[in-house]
Amino acid sequence: MLEKIIKPYISSGGIQGITRDRLDRSLQDLRISVMDRCNFRCPYCMPEDKYHKNFEFLGSSQRLSFEEILSLTRIFAAMGVKKLRLTGGEPLLRANLPDLIGDLSCIDGIDDIALTTNGVLLAQHASALKAAGLDRVTVSLDALDEKVFSLMSGGRGRIERVLEGIDEAIAAGLTPIKINTVLQRGINEHQALELVEHFRGTGVIVRFIEYMDVGTINHWHASETVPSRELVEKINSKWPIRPVAQNYHGEVAVRYQFDDGQGEVGFVSSVSEPFCGSCTRARLSSDGRLFTCLFASEGLDLREPLRAGASREELQTIINSCWSDREDRYSEQRADPSNGRKKIEMYYIGG
Ligand code: GTP
Ligand code: 5AD
Ligand code: SF4
Ligand code: SF4
Repeated sequence: MLEKIIKPYISSGGIQGITRDRLDRSLQDLRISVMDRCNFRCPYCMPEDKYHKNFEFLGSSQRLSFEEILSLTRIFAAMGVKKLRLTGGEPLLRANLPDLIGDLSCIDGIDDIALTTNGVLLAQHASALKAAGLDRVTVSLDALDEKVFSLMSGGRGRIERVLEGIDEAIAAGLTPIKINTVLQRGINEHQALELVEHFRGTGVIVRFIEYMDVGTINHWHASETVPSRELVEKINSKWPIRPVAQNYHGEVAVRYQFDDGQGEVGFVSSVSEPFCGSCTRARLSSDGRLFTCLFASEGLDLREPLRAGASREELQTIINSCWSDREDRYSEQRADPSNGRKKIEMYYIGG
C-alpha cells in the first residue's frame, strides 16, 4: 500500500548530496504556510465576494499538525534548507504558534526563522514569538492613510493595531523588521512616499513589491504594476539613495541606502526584473503540498505519504526527486502566451 503511494512520486534514483534542480539551483529556503485563513480580505488576494462567510477553508484535520510540519522540516534541513519563513493566509491565526517555533528553532541546520504577518495580531504575540525562538518578522502594510488602508485590507483591521504590532515587535527584538508594501497603480501608489517617510530612521526597512499575477482571482493586468525603477526615481528625488550589495545570494529585494544614513529601502521587482535564476525557495502549503514555484499549478502531496507512514528516507527521496526535476522560472517566462495556465492563489501559499 505504502509502496503504491510513494512510487509514482519517484522519478530518479536515491539521495546524493545537496540536490540541485535542472537549472542548477539548490534548495535553501522553506516557506511554510501554517494557515490558509486570513482576518483580512485584501481585494488583490482574498476578495470578500469569493472568500465570504460560507467559503470552505481547510478543516483542522486537513492542515498539517505541528508534528507533521516538524517531521518534514527536519528532512528539508537535512537537504540543505537553512532559512524558514512562516506564512499564511495569516499565520498568527494558528493556535499555539510559539510551540511550533520553539521546536523548529531546535532543528539542526536552521539558522533563521522569520514570519510574514499582516500585523493586526502582532502586538499581543510579539514577545511570546521571540521567546520561542522567532528571529524576525515582516509586516505586510500597503498604506498608512486610514481610508486607503481599509480599501487595501477589504475593510478589515485597523492601521493603529498594525503600528502597535510593529512597535511591540521592535520592543521584543524581532529585528530587522521589514515592511512589505504592494503598490497598485491608481489605488495606493500615492502612499509610497508617506510610508518611506514614516519608517525612515526607525531601523524598519520598507520594501516595495511589484504587484504580480499570482493566482487568477485578482484578474491582474500589467498596467496595475508600478515598476520599481519608477519608485527608485521618486524616492531618490526626495531622499537620495544609492544601491548597496545583497545581504545574501538570492535575496529577492534589491537594497538601497539613504545617503543621509537614515536606513534603507528595498524593491522586489519580480515583474520588471525577474530573479528566477537564483531562486532557492520551496513552499509548503498548510495541507502539506510542496510547491516549487509561487506560480505553480500543482503541488506535490507530502501529507498522504506522511500519514501513510512513509519513512524519513522515503520522504526525502520523494522531495529530492521533486526538486531535481524542477525547472520553474515563471517570472522569466511571464510574457509567453502559453503561460495562461491554472495557478495557485497567494493566500494558500503565503507569498
Ligand atoms: P528576507 O530577504 O529573508 O527578509 O525574505 P524575503 O524577502 O525572501 O521574503 P518575503 O516573504 O518578505 O518576500 C517578499 C515578497 O517577495 C513576497 O511576499 C513575495 O511577494 C515576493 N517573493 C518572495 N519570494 C519570491 C519568489 O520566489 N518569486 C516571486 N515571484 N516573488 C517572490
Ligand atoms: N503581488 C505581489 N505581492 C502580493 N502579496 C499578496 N498578493 C500579491 C500580489 N499579487 C504580498 C502581500 C504580502 C505577501 C505575503 O505577499 O502583500 O506582503
Ligand atoms: Fe491580505 Fe496577506 Fe491576508 Fe492575503 S494573506 S488577504 S495579502 S493579509
Ligand atoms: Fe522562483 Fe517561481 Fe518566483 Fe521564479 S517565479 S523566482 S522560479 S518562485
